[in-house]
Amino acid sequence: MKQRTLSIIKPDAVKAGYIGDILSRFQKEGLHIVAMRMTQLSQSQAEGFYAVHRERPFFGELVEFMTSGPIVAITLEADDAIQGYRTLMGATDPAKADEGTLRKLYASNVQNNAVHGSDSPENAQIEIAYFFSALDLVG
Ligand code: CMP
Repeated sequence: MKQRTLSIIKPDAVKAGYIGDILSRFQKEGLHIVAMRMTQLSQSQAEGFYAVHRERPFFGELVEFMTSGPIVAITLEADDAIQGYRTLMGATDPAKADEGTLRKLYASNVQNNAVHGSDSPENAQIEIAYFFSALDLVG
């Protein structure tokens, strides 16, 4: 079943010049780009996006990191896109990520972990709508 998921290329990976490599992996893995934009989140936008983590001890640093530079938000579409993209990303902590995954290749640590991906169909819908309107989604 065709499914959509939200990907974010985070400030660390943008700064390090990995946008092209990551987009290329999406295409190789059959994750079709249906919307994409580069932006820099304000503090309140980052807090809103990560609201579910508000009570976590790392929340303040996470918001600081996510606002530290431009990000690229992308809507991906494929059969089973959510799980497929999560497998491509690898574990949240790059030290635990499998070889060849985006986080193993491009992440520095559990916070500066290069990419984000939605974890459920419900959150994918919320996260896609956070960055894109229906008119932005192609196909
Ligand atoms: P992400 O998949 O975007 O979802 C929540 C983010 O919080 C996560 O990636 C990391 O950037 C960050 N994060 C998760 N766990 C930790 C942790 N233990 N310490 C610091 N940051 C974390």
